[in-house]
Amino acid sequence: MKAALEQIKQAALHAAETCADSKGLEELKVKYLGKKGELTAILKQMGKLSAEERPVIGALANQVRSQIEELLKQRGEELGRAAQNARLAAERIDVTVPGSPMPLGHKHPLSIVLDEVKEIFLGMGYDVADGPEVEYDYYNFEALNLPPDHPARDTQDTFYFTDKMLLRTQTSSVQIRVMEKQKPPIRIIAPGRVYRSDAIDATHSPLFHQIEGLVVDKGVTMADLKGTLEILAKRLYGEDCVVRFRPHHFPFTEPSAEMDMQCFNCHGEGCRLCKNEGWIELLGCGMVHPKVLSGCGIDPEEYSGFAFGIGLERLAMRRFGIQDLRLFYENDMRFLSQF
Ligand code: PHE
Repeated sequence: MKAALEQIKQAALHAAETCADSKGLEELKVKYLGKKGELTAILKQMGKLSAEERPVIGALANQVRSQIEELLKQRGEELGRAAQNARLAAERIDVTVPGSPMPLGHKHPLSIVLDEVKEIFLGMGYDVADGPEVEYDYYNFEALNLPPDHPARDTQDTFYFTDKMLLRTQTSSVQIRVMEKQKPPIRIIAPGRVYRSDAIDATHSPLFHQIEGLVVDKGVTMADLKGTLEILAKRLYGEDCVVRFRPHHFPFTEPSAEMDMQCFNCHGEGCRLCKNEGWIELLGCGMVHPKVLSGCGIDPEEYSGFAFGIGLERLAMRRFGIQDLRLFYENDMRFLSQF
């Protein structure tokens, strides 16, 4: 029996050492140590042994069992480590390999120009204000001295939701919202989308962008308006940019003007770009109408102000030499990737 035990031990140890995976180890465990295993079979025959032999063989059998157990355990750990190492090697990531390039987005040309304008005005101490695109008739027209039936409303026909609500036709509505909330001194620009029921062509779109400006304080004059807007033009188009103010009419400013800049192409001679005018219209402006001020609870005897409204698309078209405004909205990457 001793010899048999020794044989089982040797066979088991050898089998364990050459076993290549944990499934094989499990099978060996059953084969040698299981209920129907070889060691158990030997132990079952212990009854045949003499009383002196039994404890000796019993002790030996236990020793063999624990040796086999120990070895199977060791081998199991070895195999486990090997499997983990193999997995780590397979899943290894080389962090030094250059990544695949991610195409980076960039600013839309309208945003580029808007950011430039914001930068210029922030530098002069202005804040940026905001107002809703779905607006009350009151803010878009009435408080701006355009009562119902005012003929100037027709030039800004728009999209109404109800009699009282519409898509704003101009950012001038933000002037009123700011003056209602804030007492002078006021110095803001308000960029945003505006809507008019215009048919789309190279220079018109039912949706476009304006940048509104408003300054209200004691002693603000037309000279402040002209100086401010001249600085804007020079910063945007260069120090040699020449501007002129031409009388105009807006119901909410008095006096009102439009600012033109001398055509940068022909320097006032007249060319195709400026339609032979020599000048290009840039924006509308004027001194805030006393009626508008008092409507917002600001005393026109004490305070005065100026306002202006710039078309952002026009600004950007001139800035980049773009001939067709539709390009801004079509999201054609061949166009957009040039900026
Ligand atoms: N809101 C005017 C327009 O859309 C522009 C403007 C703004 C004129 C402020 C004067 C003062 O045409």
